[in-house]
Amino acid sequence: MSTRVATSKQLALQRCIMPTCGATYDLGEVRTNCGECGSLLDIAYEWDRLPVPSHLREFEAKWTRRNDPLCRSGVWRFYELLPFAPPEKVVTIGEGQTPLMVSDGVGSFVGMKPGKLLLEYEGMNPSGSFKDNGMTAAFTHAHTIGAKRAACASTGNTSASLALYCSVSKLMQAVIFIGSGKISYGKLSQALDYGALTIQITGDFDDAMQRVREVSTRMGIYLVNSVNPFRLEGQKTIMLRVLESLDWQVPDWIVVPGGNLGNSSSFAKAFMELKELGLVDRVPRLAIINAKGADTLYELYENRGLRWNNGAPNTKITDGYYAELDAGHLRADTIASAIEINRPVNLDKCLRGLEFMNGVVREVNDQEILDAKAQVGASGLGCEPASAASVAGAKLLREQGVIAPDEQVVCILTGHQLKDPTATVAYHTSDQKEFDRVLGSRGVSRAAFANRAVQVDNDLDAIVRAIQLNS
Ligand code: F0G
Repeated sequence: MSTRVATSKQLALQRCIMPTCGATYDLGEVRTNCGECGSLLDIAYEWDRLPVPSHLREFEAKWTRRNDPLCRSGVWRFYELLPFAPPEKVVTIGEGQTPLMVSDGVGSFVGMKPGKLLLEYEGMNPSGSFKDNGMTAAFTHAHTIGAKRAACASTGNTSASLALYCSVSKLMQAVIFIGSGKISYGKLSQALDYGALTIQITGDFDDAMQRVREVSTRMGIYLVNSVNPFRLEGQKTIMLRVLESLDWQVPDWIVVPGGNLGNSSSFAKAFMELKELGLVDRVPRLAIINAKGADTLYELYENRGLRWNNGAPNTKITDGYYAELDAGHLRADTIASAIEINRPVNLDKCLRGLEFMNGVVREVNDQEILDAKAQVGASGLGCEPASAASVAGAKLLREQGVIAPDEQVVCILTGHQLKDPTATVAYHTSDQKEFDRVLGSRGVSRAAFANRAVQVDNDLDAIVRAIQLNS
């Protein structure tokens, strides 16, 4: 495969997602929405004039050239499907070396037949979450246009990822916005350690998101939240790696937690393009799982009937819901702090994706999330609470008969187990007070799969007895 680059506006551009608008912008423009109608943007390619492989298997040739950083990266290995920047401008830190694992332990918890439940472990990325897939792409675009500062609002993983790319490359300063008390220690420690300028505002993620948009506009700082269409180009490759691990066969279901809805939107874009290019013959179904305390998509899609509607979603439904949230002073609240978001910025793009992938949306509560997380830890590499929403959601969809036990289901584990040790230790702790303090107020009343530490005196015989008793 040759690598022709789509840097000129003839080969790739930014395009408004709304078919009724469709305004286009050059790749060099820094935009997070359409200047005409305010909607979200896509990166669109002139595929006919680009060197696209005739079969996905052609990407396998790159495995033999792993000394080349562009082949080593699990994102840029698929360069021909996201050719928006010249190869020499790509900033990669080896992201995307992530495994897809069959887990029969988690599968039996979910209610699947052996071999049918797979976990795509995105916690294996350099900063410990799937965000690196998108960050390498947005960061590359930022570098291409000469940005010197990059900003994001974050529940912790986007900020850890941005901070890491800045600290490794030294190309930009990271400015990150976080809500007060709304970020797990693992994630905060990353941002601080990598040297990011960390602005902690009073408020939650939704407040921080609004502020970072204002600040980046006013100060000309490059914004890397998932409203940035380049981010999603990188995240498309999670689906490419899933297919790669399945020897290019398409699974029946992709199950993913929903927060700001960038990941789900990018998955759908991946399949829209693969289908258009004739590289897949069918598309999996998409299940997006909200946490109950942050369930805007579930409420709008499943209860109030909001649909993409050929690019004309009924804005009255969304506006009405947000007005209700405001009137009731309702804030997002869940143990899955990564997805504690009430106003997902990619809502419209996600609706388009749900339609294309015949999707469903479900919500799961904190108890279900933590029980699923413990199961993932016991037999599937471990993950942070938000990631376990995918497993809890798959279980619910099995119970409802939406997913059949012999379908092939891929749950995306979006973040590493060590991202939120507080939640994990509180769930497993032998100290009831600690359990109640951290989890009780969240409506988590039992730790069905707790692995409690055994308290024992510092005495050899007592220790031996304790091991014998508990083996
Ligand atoms: N899982 C994890 C571990 C996350 O960190 C996030 C989002 C999601 C799922 C949801 O993905 O937003 O694409 O729907 N975290 C963002 C952050 C909001 O700031 O790190 P999404």
